[in-house]
Amino acid sequence: MTGANIPYLLRAARGEKLDRPPVWMMRQAGRYMKAYRDLRDKYPSFRERSEIPEVAIEVSLQPWRAFKPDGVILFSDIVTPLPGIGIEMDIAEGKGPIIANPIRTLEQVEALHTIVPDESTPFIRPILTALREEVKNEAAVLGFVGAPWTLAAYAVEGKGSKTYSIIKNMAFSDPTVLHALLGKIADMIAAYACHQIECGAQVIQMFDSWAGQLSPQDYEVFALPYQKRVFEQIKAKYPETPLILLVTGSAGLLERMGESGADMISVDWTVDMADARRRLGPEMGVQGNLDPGVLFGSKEFIRDRILDTIKKAGPRGHILNLGHGILPTTPEENAAYFFETAKQADQLLAAV
Ligand code: CP3
Repeated sequence: MTGANIPYLLRAARGEKLDRPPVWMMRQAGRYMKAYRDLRDKYPSFRERSEIPEVAIEVSLQPWRAFKPDGVILFSDIVTPLPGIGIEMDIAEGKGPIIANPIRTLEQVEALHTIVPDESTPFIRPILTALREEVKNEAAVLGFVGAPWTLAAYAVEGKGSKTYSIIKNMAFSDPTVLHALLGKIADMIAAYACHQIECGAQVIQMFDSWAGQLSPQDYEVFALPYQKRVFEQIKAKYPETPLILLVTGSAGLLERMGESGADMISVDWTVDMADARRRLGPEMGVQGNLDPGVLFGSKEFIRDRILDTIKKAGPRGHILNLGHGILPTTPEENAAYFFETAKQADQLLAAV
């Protein structure tokens, strides 16, 4: 393939020197968009919106049509594959995932089965196929998965948590059950990510959203080895597919995240991008890292932060993004301005 027909985002992931970084936004499809809220009125259940292919495709394409980002992400959730191994779930409006029968015993872990993605998540194939057809090579199609620790946190706690007291009780008393669960989830996630690649995903981002709740020494026991286990299995089958790792609140963990086998680290705004670059070294790609709150600022402020981030990240191996998902009350015109400015960053930087 020549440069022209490789999506720009993949060129950044390969470390090519570029005039401006590719740009997309975590949660770019979602509540801050009127088009999304209108569709949500018609399909009030999140599982409907994400599991009826025509609806999920439409949601992913709403920001694509509005802003032409360099990446279009599958509209789904990190808990979507769990029923496929025997963990039933729902996603409650405003609350997030709910697991009615949390996993607490070895018997429950042993009863979990392997995943057959085309049977348990049959919507993934038509969704990713349609997204690839729609965006052609004008953008990269991203798939995503939750990491073992974060999915285990939902499976064990039964819902989102502020304290993680139940899973930490397991981890810090007799961790046998938890390690068995993490291992099973890791193998499932690797198979599910490979399936997304087979269906058309060109990049996989893994969200270890709750791994930042662990101290670094516990991250090394309960999060990092299982991130590695997932990434190694994906790389063994698809060595060319770029892998991005995100941990929420990762400032104290960056160097350790760099050991996960990811090609790029999604950096949040608690770290200065120049520091992140230094700490991760020249070989590691970076994504990020504007505070989503910047989009509540003035246009001038938004523009300055974009350009500052781009300068600090340098011309290679950077995907411009927020440090975490766009917030639901963000003015839509500020999201539009973010994309416009990012796509003209080469001219804007040349002019200063
Ligand atoms: O980025 C994208 O545009 C793709 C969509 C996406 C969703 N969830 C859709 C969604 C992605 C990448 C996720 C990942 C996800 N889900 C994570 C990791 C990212 C992160 O935030 O750290 C986590 C922790 C979850 C679990 C989850 N699902 C939460 C915490 C919530 C939010 C609850 C709420 O309402 O605020 C959900 C529900 C959810 N998943 C929504 C969306 C757009 C919000 C509900 C809605 O808009 O209808």
